[in-house]
Amino acid sequence: MIKKVDHIGIAVHSIEKAREPYEAIGMVVTRIVDVPTRPLKVAFLPVGDADVELLEPTSADSEVARYLEECGEGIHHICFEVDDVDAAVAAAKAKGMRLVDEVPRQGASGRIAFLHPSSTHGVRIEFVEKQ
Ligand code: CO
Repeated sequence: MIKKVDHIGIAVHSIEKAREPYEAIGMVVTRIVDVPTRPLKVAFLPVGDADVELLEPTSADSEVARYLEECGEGIHHICFEVDDVDAAVAAAKAKGMRLVDEVPRQGASGRIAFLHPSSTHGVRIEFVEKQ
């Protein structure tokens, strides 16, 4: 059901500054996308068939802005690609896990849902079903 690690999301104050250490070790920013619904800017740095994503909030209302205030910069979530996001959410719920998204929602590259970190020993786990 889980196919692969799709991306690792890293919360940053500034993509312009945070991209520097990745570029210093030879990684490349291939695109920067505005996601007004989150609201965020996302920089994609491919690693094999996965990505590191630098997440910069574009509003103080952004969940990532609140995360930065509470926790500072660092790894925000890990995303696993799944065949069927509805089935993945249903399976987690059936095991008694807490969900951030009871119903999957539209993300940048497919339908997504987050598990709550209180059910995963502190890790925000995202599922994505690619479209
Ligand atoms: Co993500």
